[in-house]
Amino acid sequence: MISIGILGGTGYTGKKLIQFCSNHPFVKDFEVYANTTADENLSTLFPDIEGMIEDKKVLSIKSVSFDHDLYFLTLPHGEALNFVPALISKGKKVIDLGGDYRLDFEELYLQWYKLEHSSSYLLKSKVYGLADFYKTEYTDAQLIANPGCYPTAVLLSLLPIVKNFGDDIVSVSCSAYSGTSGAGKSPKSEFLLTEMEGNVKAYNVNTHRHEPEILQTLYKNGFHSPFAFTTHLLPVAVGIYATSFIHLKNNVDEASVQKIYKQVYEESSFVRIRKMPPELKWVINSNFCDINVSVKEKKVVVTTAIDNLVKGAAGQAIQNMNKLYGWDESLGILQKEVKHAALS
Ligand SMILES: NC(=O)c1ccc[n+]([C@@H]2O[C@H](COP(=O)([O-])OP(=O)(O)OC[C@H]3O[C@@H](n4cnc5c(N)ncnc54)[C@H](OP(=O)(O)O)[C@@H]3O)[C@@H](O)[C@H]2O)c1
Repeated sequence: MISIGILGGTGYTGKKLIQFCSNHPFVKDFEVYANTTADENLSTLFPDIEGMIEDKKVLSIKSVSFDHDLYFLTLPHGEALNFVPALISKGKKVIDLGGDYRLDFEELYLQWYKLEHSSSYLLKSKVYGLADFYKTEYTDAQLIANPGCYPTAVLLSLLPIVKNFGDDIVSVSCSAYSGTSGAGKSPKSEFLLTEMEGNVKAYNVNTHRHEPEILQTLYKNGFHSPFAFTTHLLPVAVGIYATSFIHLKNNVDEASVQKIYKQVYEESSFVRIRKMPPELKWVINSNFCDINVSVKEKKVVVTTAIDNLVKGAAGQAIQNMNKLYGWDESLGILQKEVKHAALS
C-alpha cells in the first residue's frame, strides 16, 4: 500500500487522478496540493464526485510533504522543475504528467518550451512512459515522464508501422484533433462556447510542442522520413482523434499490416484494434486507445481515438504507477463490465 501526493490536483487531469486513486486497491491515502485553490474542500471544487471520493482540504503547494511514496505532478509547464529534483533526491517516485521531462535534450526543451532546463541531468534517466508500447518492466525507475495526449494517440497508432516498414516509408502526414479540455481549466477567450460551438480550427501549425516529442520516439524506432503534424480544435470538451496518412515506396497487403498491429498489441489491455475507424464516443471516460488501419496499394491510413484526460493523461499515469510497482497494469483503471443479476 502506498501514499500519494498529487501536485496540481485541482485541475482537469488532477481530478481524474483523484478519482482513480480513490478506487485503487493499493493506494492507502493521498493528498492534493494546489495553488489558488489551497484550503478549499474537494467537495466544493468537484461537487459532481462528492460521495465517490473522500472529502478533504486541498493543501498549499508551498508546503508539500515529503512523506508520500509517489508523486503525480499535474502542473503547468515549467512548474515541475521546482519540485522534481528535491523529490528525486529524497528517493521518491515521480510521475510528471506535464512536458518538462519528456524531451531528451535541454536544447530541445529551450527551443520548444522557451525555458532553460534547471535539472537536465534527469532527462537521460527518466523513463518515457508510453505504457502500452513498451512492454519492458520499469520497476527500478524513479522518474516517469508521462507522454502528452497527442503523442500517446499518434505514437501508439504509428509505431507498429514505423518499426516494421522504417526504410519503406516515404512520408507521414498526421492531422490530429483535440477537445478544449486539452488546454486545462484556465479561462481563455478562444475556448469560449461562443467561439467553439459549431467551429473547427487548426492551431499551432508547425509549432506544436508535441511534434518534437512524437519525432523523438519515432526516430528511436527507425523512422527517418518527412513528418507533418497539424493540430486542430474540435467543438467538444474531451477527446483526441488523429488520422495519419503513410505513403510507402512499395505496395503492401492490408491483411499483413493489420496482423502486425494485432501482434504488437495482443497483450495490451488498453489498445483495441478496430475493424472500422474508431469514434470518439467509444473511448471517452476510458483508458482505451482505439486504432484502425486501412491499406490501399502504397497508401496506409491509420485512425485513432483516445480520451485526452484518461489515456492521454491520468489513466496512463495510473498504468505507469502500476508498472512502477510491478502490479497488474489495469488495476484501478479497467472497470470490467459487471452483469446485473436480474439481467443474467
Ligand atoms: N488537459 C489535458 O488534456 C492534458 C493531457 C496530458 C497532459 N496534460 C498536462 O498536464 C498538466 C496539467 O494539465 P491540466 O489540464 O490538468 O491543467 P489545469 O486544469 O490548468 O490545472 C493546473 C493545476 O496546476 C495548479 N497550478 C496552476 N498554476 C500553478 C502554479 N503557478 N504553481 C503551482 N500550481 C499551479 C492549479 O492549481 P489551482 O487550481 O490552485 O490554481 C491546478 O491544480 C499540464 O502540464 C498539461 O500540459 C494535460
